[in-house]
Amino acid sequence: MKSTVLAFVSLFSTAAFCQTPKVDLARAQVIAEATCASCHYKNGNAIFSTTPKIAGQHEAYLLKQLRDFKGQPGRQPTRVATSMQAPLGILNDADFRALAVYYSQQQLIPEKSKHPETLALGQHLWRAGSPAKGLPACASCHGPSGQGIPPRYPRLQGQFADYLKNTLIAYQADTLQNDLTGAMPDIAQRMSTAEIDAVSDYAAGLR
Ligand code: HEC
Ligand code: HEC
Repeated sequence: MKSTVLAFVSLFSTAAFCQTPKVDLARAQVIAEATCASCHYKNGNAIFSTTPKIAGQHEAYLLKQLRDFKGQPGRQPTRVATSMQAPLGILNDADFRALAVYYSQQQLIPEKSKHPETLALGQHLWRAGSPAKGLPACASCHGPSGQGIPPRYPRLQGQFADYLKNTLIAYQADTLQNDLTGAMPDIAQRMSTAEIDAVSDYAAGLR
C-alpha cells in the first residue's frame, strides 16, 4: 500500500516536472562564455554598437530570436544574420531556452543618447507617434521607458542607437521579416531616415 502511494506521488511529481522543464543555467553560462562572449561580450553587454546588448532582454523575446536565427526543423530561418549562423550551429532548443533565461537575468549596462539636437523629435515620436503619417507611439508597445512588455514586445531602453537604427532600416527594406505581428515593417516604412535616427538615439538614453 505504502509503495503504491509512493509510486503515485513520484509519478505525479514527474508529470509536474515535465510541465515546467528546468533549464541548465550552468551549461548556459559555459556556452555564453565560450561562444557568445566573443561578440556579445561579458554578460551580454556588447561593446561594438552594431552587436546588440542582450543582457536583461526578456526571456521570451531572446528565445524567439534564437529560434528564428536557427530555423525550425524543416524550415528556413526567418531571421538571417551571417554572424549568428555559426555560433548557433551545434546548439539545440534546450540550450536556447537556457541561454534565454541566462541572458534575461544579466544586468544591462545601458547606452546614452548622443544627439541633444534631435532628442525632442525622438521623444515626440516615442510618446505620440505621428498621427498624420499613421505612425503609432513606440511607447504603446515598447512601454513608456522602453522597458518592453513581455512576452511579445522587446525592451529597447539603453540599447545601442546604431543597432536600433540598423534594425529599423532592415524592417523598412523588408530584409527583416520575423515580426509575426507585422507591426514593425509597417511602422518603419512610415518613417524618414531623420526620424529613425532621432528615435534610435532617444531610445538608447531611456531608463
Ligand atoms: C560573431 C559574432 C557573434 C556571436 C559569436 C554571437 N552573436 Fe548574437 N548577434 C551578433 C550580431 C552582429 C547580431 C545582430 C544581427 C542582426 O540583427 O543582423 C546578433 C544578434 C543576436 C540576438 C538578437 C538580439 C535582438 O535584440 O534581437 C540574440 C538573442 C543573440 N545574438 C544571441 C546570441 C547568443 C546566445 C550567442 C551564443 C550562442 C551569440 N548571439 C553569438 C553577433 C554574434
Ligand atoms: C503595435 C506594436 C508596436 C509598436 C507601436 C512599435 N513596435 Fe517595435 N516591435 C514590436 C514587436 C512585436 C517587436 C518584436 C518582433 C519580433 O518578435 O521579432 C518589435 C521590435 C522592435 C525592434 C527590434 C528590437 C531588437 O532588439 O532587435 C525595434 C528596433 C523596434 N521594435 C523599434 C520600434 C520603434 C522605434 C517604434 C516607434 C516608432 C516601435 N518599435 C513601435 C511591436 C511594436
